[in-house]
Amino acid sequence: SNGTDRELRAPICCILGHVDAGKTKLLDCIRRSNVLGGEAGGITQQIGATYLPVENIRERTSLKAEVAIKVPGLLVIDTPGHQSFSNMRLRGSSLSDVAVVVVDITRGLERQTIESLELLKHSNVRFIVALNKVDRLYGWKTCPNAPIVKALKNQSDDVQRDFRWRVTEVVTQLMESGFNAALYYENKKIKQVVNIVPTSAVSGEGIPDLLLLLVRWVPEIMVERLTYVSTVECTVLEVNEDKDFGTTIDTVLINGALQKGDQIVVCTKQGPVTTNIRYLLTPYPMKELKVKGQGVYKHHEEVKAAQGVKISARGLQHAMAGTALIVVKAGDDLERAEAAAVHE
Ligand code: GTP
Ligand code: NA
Ligand code: MG
Repeated sequence: SNGTDRELRAPICCILGHVDAGKTKLLDCIRRSNVLGGEAGGITQQIGATYLPVENIRERTSLKAEVAIKVPGLLVIDTPGHQSFSNMRLRGSSLSDVAVVVVDITRGLERQTIESLELLKHSNVRFIVALNKVDRLYGWKTCPNAPIVKALKNQSDDVQRDFRWRVTEVVTQLMESGFNAALYYENKKIKQVVNIVPTSAVSGEGIPDLLLLLVRWVPEIMVERLTYVSTVECTVLEVNEDKDFGTTIDTVLINGALQKGDQIVVCTKQGPVTTNIRYLLTPYPMKELKVKGQGVYKHHEEVKAAQGVKISARGLQHAMAGTALIVVKAGDDLERAEAAAVHE
């Protein structure tokens, strides 16, 4: 195959960074949502998943129709930055293809930024740095949703100097963590050197750049990995009681497809549980999977990866977060599937 006729799935992109760097706010800006406003104390405490269809990304980036994008969308995984949730950062990053490490430009690299970088280094996950809160530079003139180069041209010499100085600081700090990095529009080796994208999650500068980089650069560097395969790979994020659907699990479908009625095996502390998918649900596009409510889910007969999926079935009460969900197809050996579920 020459790579052009492949069916690619949506890349899964994990958002990592120190507490309050602006991870959720960046996603809110992209989704035009206010998930942050519903969080206790403005602190994220759960992994989230949001599907961004390519049409919405085109709209946000004013991309010309003739510019081809090889992926159907992006699945973004929000993670908590608070130090006590390192397990969720590990879970989020380990199911992702790529990451965005959000750094507050006014603070530089912080403790959980460095922890995140270590995590990505160990798991060999490529990443982009979103150098966020540029609007907080003293004297910044807001240019809503502008590409960053355009926004920077509008700034005074003082702001541009301050910006340059802070970028240099962050580049030095990244070097100390073992990464070569450069502003993406000055980066001559975008396959080797980490791209930095300055952003504001409040006024939207740099958001088009970040989205474009994700949908263009990611498929370029990992076409193999993003090639859709029918073998199901699915991870449980959490168990929920839902008023309408009973016990449900929120999952990330990384590859393959799930069908309503599928026989599945999930891990519980008491061992594997075999059950059937009763309802197969997703949030609507651009909506966060973990945000609960009535009528917020779409029913499906089939869902194809990559997607955040809510599954309703009997026996899910004790399903364990972070474990794999296994699908048993006709002719499969159930005992083998159960054993596999336990050994994941
Ligand atoms: P945790 O999930 O708790 O780790 O935090 P987070 O990284 O998701 O940060 P969050 O989105 O909660 O933002 C933290 C605070 O910074 C909020 O008050 C946001 O409104 C603010 N904030 C985030 N991004 C920006 C930005 O680009 N500019 C400005 N001025 N404020 C921002
Ligand atoms: Na926060
Ligand atoms: Mg958050």
